[in-house]
Parts: sequence; structure tokens; C-alpha cells
Amino acid sequence: MQNNEITKENINQLVVTFYTKVLKNEKISPFFIEKLGSDMKSEIWQKHIKILTDFWYTISFGHGDYNGSPFAPHMQISGLDRESFETWIKLFFETLDKLYTENIAAKFKERASIIASNFMRNLRI
Ligand code: HEM
Repeated sequence: MQNNEITKENINQLVVTFYTKVLKNEKISPFFIEKLGSDMKSEIWQKHIKILTDFWYTISFGHGDYNGSPFAPHMQISGLDRESFETWIKLFFETLDKLYTENIAAKFKERASIIASNFMRNLRI
């Protein structure tokens, strides 16, 4: 069923569903496996999922538990190119379309596109 409101629970579902897709994608899974391994049940992945749930909650509501630097870890990832970001966006959008009604999905898409563009600009790719 598509959610027509945003809650912490459905953001967690968004994040878990998205990374399940990411780990099956041959273009971008290697970046995640190198840093976090391939087992989403591991402690390091559970931590990552919690960080990303807090990240999207804080973006959605303007307050929340995320107070990190979202761009910083991406500077340590070598080999990131525009095609990787296009794949990231494609998988994120597919997940949003599955889990949220159109208006809510559109808001997440807008935010994600802006952040991805900023990351690419900062990475000079
Ligand atoms: C191809 C594109 C991307 C790849 C391969 C990628 C990969 C990663 C990896 C491996 C980490 C974990 C780093 C670590 O813990 O050492 C990470 C963290 C993170 N990523 Fe990405 N990422 C991508 C794009 C994005 C985009 C577009 C966003 C936001 C819209 C995003 C948001 C985040 C956030 C919030 C964190 C956690 C930062 C923190 O620790 O505070 N990423 N990413």
C-alpha cells in the first residue's frame, strides 16, 4: 500500500527497501560493500540504516536526530561518477514510487535530486 503521510516507520521502510535494491545493483553495490559489507543485518549496516532514517526524517520535518555532515563520507569513496549518481537516483525514485503517493514521492525526489546535484558539484564530476 502507498503511504499518504510520512512517519519515522515508513521512512525506515524506505531506507531498508532502497538499500536492498542498491545491494542487488551491479553498478553501485561495490561502493557500499567496500565500506559497509554485504550483510544488511550487520551492526555497521544497522547503524547506517538508522543514520539514513534520521537523515530523511530531519529533512522531511525540519527537525530530528540527524546532525552529521552528509557529504563528508562521499569524499572518501573513489570511482564515483555521474552514472553512479544516476543509478542511485533511479533506484531511490523507484522505491519512492512503490511506497508513497505521488505528492509525497515528488517531495522526496526534489530533495534527493538537489542533494545529488550538490554532491556531484562538490566532487567535481
Ligand atoms: C552513487 C551515489 C552514492 C554512493 C555510492 C553513496 C555511498 C555511501 C556510503 C558507502 C556511505 C557510508 C560511508 C561510511 O559510513 O563510511 C554513505 C553515507 C551517506 N550517504 Fe551516500 N552515497 C551516494 C549518494 C548519496 C546521496 C545522493 C545522498 C542524499 C540524497 C546520500 C546520503 C548519505 C548520507 C546522509 C550518509 C551518512 C552520512 C553520515 O555518516 O552522517 N548519499 N553513502
